[in-house]
Amino acid sequence: MYFNFKSFVIRSVEARRNSYAIARWKEFMQSQSFLSKCLLIFVIIKDASKLELSYIPSKILCREEEINKIKLYLKAGKVLISGSVGTGKTMLARYIGGDAYVNCYVNKTEHRVLEDILKQLKPRFNPAGLPTQKLWNEIEEGKTIILDEIDGMHADELRHFAYTLSRQYEFGRKIKYIAITRNHFILKQIINDDATWSTFAGKSIVELKPYTWEQIKEILFYRAEESLYPNTYDDDSISFIAEITLNSPGHMRTGIELLRQSAMIAESKGHEKIEIEDIREANREEWMSDIESLDDDETILLLAVATACKNKAYVSVEDIKETLQIKQEEYGMKIENFDRTFQSLLQQGFVYEGNRGYTILDCPTSILIEEIEKKLRR
Ligand SMILES: Nc1ncnc2c1ncn2[C@@H]1O[C@H](COP(=O)(O)OP(=O)(O)OP(=O)(O)O)[C@@H](O)[C@H]1O
Ligand SMILES: [Mg+2]
Repeated sequence: MYFNFKSFVIRSVEARRNSYAIARWKEFMQSQSFLSKCLLIFVIIKDASKLELSYIPSKILCREEEINKIKLYLKAGKVLISGSVGTGKTMLARYIGGDAYVNCYVNKTEHRVLEDILKQLKPRFNPAGLPTQKLWNEIEEGKTIILDEIDGMHADELRHFAYTLSRQYEFGRKIKYIAITRNHFILKQIINDDATWSTFAGKSIVELKPYTWEQIKEILFYRAEESLYPNTYDDDSISFIAEITLNSPGHMRTGIELLRQSAMIAESKGHEKIEIEDIREANREEWMSDIESLDDDETILLLAVATACKNKAYVSVEDIKETLQIKQEEYGMKIENFDRTFQSLLQQGFVYEGNRGYTILDCPTSILIEEIEKKLRR
């Protein structure tokens, strides 16, 4: 029988919600060779480029007030954006826009920062061997420059750079700038001169607070909507990624990274949508050997938690106790003190208490269960 492969793929993906189509799709996938499956797995990610860290979304959520402030200060010539890792500093600066963008952590000296700026403003200009002052003179009036991670410059270079930049106005040349730092208090200490600080930043500071769990969810939903096919993510998966994001040192940076990796893992496993186990896999930490250090009570309780969480994002204490009962019978064990043992697992970070209950965050439960069962059988 003749079978139109391409049209089947398109029709099946579009009709994902149709259970008949899904059943047919599964049947069809089972009958395909490995090569055919490889061609068929791209059904979760619609546009991977929209999950790259450098991508500037067309809509910025949860930062309306900050955007207005940045624009207002910039009108007057300068703004300093301050906020911890992954709070959206770089994204906001690029969204507002500038004529040149330079990362000062990479270009640690005044000369190199100016060279980088001029490379963008005047591609034909050759700054090699020219003194710093000459480079300053080449920057045209009215240009806006973005100075990311400005505290990454060598301290003495930064002091001189900040001083010269802020004094350009006095020399009658208006160079606008958006400077970015993770901590404006530390930056002030590095500059260590009240007069320079007041002209360089003064009161034009916009602080970005870390996002709340609800805000992270809102942002992730929007980013997923832009980059993934509909019905490949849901409230459970996005809430779970938001939970990890909220507690990670990389904050929103981790959130976007996790969304991308979970989607890739789900696709590679042939899942129709991102599953909680895919997110756990994407967030996987190498702590399996730590299981060996758990005592018998902790081991059986962790097995119960992992089993209860197998197909769910979160579980309640009641769910855990119920599963524990079954596991204790299975292995002929009885734990002495539930509360104490449970607290110990929480404190050691094996089990996590989240917004919606208890869960395992950083290891697929299927792998964890297998490892614990191996230990218990020994
Ligand atoms: N409000 C938002 N809406 C949409 N995406 C966001 C938002 N805030 C942050 N992001 C995304 O989160 C990621 C991290 O943001 P960004 O790189 O701007 O953080 P940062 O504060 O510059 O971090 P770092 O201090 O590590 O440089 C980016 O992919 C960015 O697009
Ligand atoms: Mg940044």
